[in-house]
Formats: sequence, C-alpha cells, structure tokens
Amino acid sequence: MQTGVGQSHAKIILIGEHAVVYGQPAIALPIFAVQARVTVTLEPALQTPQIKSTYYNGPLEQAVGQMQGIRRLIEQLWHALDPNLTPFELTIESDLPPERGMGSSAATAVAIIRALFATYHQELSQQRLLKLAALSENLIHGNPSGIDAATTGATTPLWFVKGQPLQPLPINLKGYLVIADSGQKGQTGAAVKSVQNQMMSNPEQTQPLIDHLGYLTQQVARNIAQNELTVLGANLNRAQLDLRALGVSNARVDHLIDVANQTGSLGTKLTGGGRGGCIIALAATQSAADDLAQALSAAGAIKTWIQPLHAL
Ligand code: PMV
Repeated sequence: MQTGVGQSHAKIILIGEHAVVYGQPAIALPIFAVQARVTVTLEPALQTPQIKSTYYNGPLEQAVGQMQGIRRLIEQLWHALDPNLTPFELTIESDLPPERGMGSSAATAVAIIRALFATYHQELSQQRLLKLAALSENLIHGNPSGIDAATTGATTPLWFVKGQPLQPLPINLKGYLVIADSGQKGQTGAAVKSVQNQMMSNPEQTQPLIDHLGYLTQQVARNIAQNELTVLGANLNRAQLDLRALGVSNARVDHLIDVANQTGSLGTKLTGGGRGGCIIALAATQSAADDLAQALSAAGAIKTWIQPLHAL
C-alpha cells in the first residue's frame, strides 16, 4: 500500500436558500480560496485502521457520534477497494468550520473518497464520487438535499432545484466574493422549521417572500452569465431583505452585513440556513475585497475568505 492523498473544497449558497425548500431554484458555488480546503492522507499503519482529525483521534472502529457517518464511509470503501484489508492511518486536515453553511462534512467525505481511490489506484468518475458522497451525507444528516455533496465535488457553479438533477451554471463574472464566519454555528434546522411554521400560520405574507427569492435567483443566474456585477450586488441585497423578513437572520449576522455595506460592499447577505453561520459580500476589486475582509474581522468575524469570481 502506498500513500494516497485526496482534496476537496468548501461551498456556499449564493442565493436561493430556504426558498429551495419550497421548489424554487438555488445557486451554489464551489470555493477554491486558500484555507477553504480539506486534505485527507492515507498511509500504511501497523495494526488496526486509525483516524487522525481535530474531532477524533483513535481506532476507526471506535469512532462514534458525528464521526459515525465518516467511519461507515471509510469501512465500506476499504472493504470494496482493498482485498487484503491492509491497516492504514487516515489523517483529515480541514480548514472548514463545521455548521457554518460551508459544506464541511460533505467536503470531508469527498476528500476521503478521493484519497481511498487514489491509494488503490482506482478510477473514480464524477458520478460515482457524488453518489458515494451523498451516501455519507445521508448517514450524517439524515435526508439532505444533496447540494453540499455535489458542490464540494464540483468545479463549476451549480443550479439546483429540489428533486431535479443539478446543472452546471455558465459563469462570466469579474469580481470578488468575501465570505466571513460570524463565529456562531448556523441553525439550519431551526430556521427551516420556523419558515415552515410561518408558511402554515401566515401564508399570505410568507409565500410572496419565497416567490420573490425564486425570482431573484433567476435574475442572479443571468447576472453571473452576463458579468452584471452591480446588479448582482443589488439582487443579493434584495434577497437579504427577504431572508430577514422570513426571520432567518439574527443580530450578529445583521451587524456583519451592515458593516460590509458601510465598507462599500456591492451586495451582502447571509448564506445557508442562517441564524448564525457565514455572510457573503461582493467586491469589484481585490483591494476592495481586502478592505471588506479587514472590516469584517474588526467587527467580530472569526475568519474570512476571498474568492475571485473569474476563477470559478
Ligand atoms: O446551511 P446550509 O448550507 O446547509 O444550507 C441550508 C439551505 C436551506 O435551504 C436553508 C435548507 C435546505 O435543505 O435546502
């Protein structure tokens, strides 16, 4: 057995979160920025398979809790790929904060799958990768939409409608996306539930917000295909107003968004489930993006990333 390495990257939802639950489209972006990666290394070990990671260090067979899905994924692949069942040490190095809407668990699964296939010199099609990553996401999260697994293994922006195959989205956009971690875990489950409650108790006000988010997502698809950076920013701001009206923002997220807007962001919104997690802000130039990242850090963001949009 030789050493094998697998890598993957973060994802964010550009627009369409929450509305996607009600059949509207969403757009997800892969994030290739430095320090938004997961690297998995597989090396031969002497006795039993071991995992080394921030959350768990020890024998594979004793990995429980959050690591259970990862463990099952590794065991299944190992049994399928290595007839000799050679013991290994699997090291997970992740830049991604968990539960911030950046796809941390799916990115880990993708990097593990790539590392195992690289170790055993097996061909890995994109289709097989996504299927295996979705399997592990199911084990970890129950019944996720599949957007995380698809985007952390993808190389292009994706158009996503629930129940339909994901589609690559054409992009022709110059500019920079700044991602800032509020330092608070996102509360996707609670936020989805509260929208659901509003939809039942007050459909007259809730449904138009969902429909408008769907409309904005359609507009944004056009903006990113036609390099309409300023209009894109305005549409992101409009989406944030809808998300705030749906009650999925919170004070910390709103504060970071206000700071970004006062620092010249072309458009700023929360990303993912909300009530914590990350925000995204749009800038025309690298220096404007640097200024935004600095202001957001000074305002309490615990980490920032800058993704050039022309590199997507
Ligand atoms: O927080 P994330 O990145 O897992 O995104 C959640 C997106 C929602 O639309 C709020 C929920 C969903 O399942 O699509």
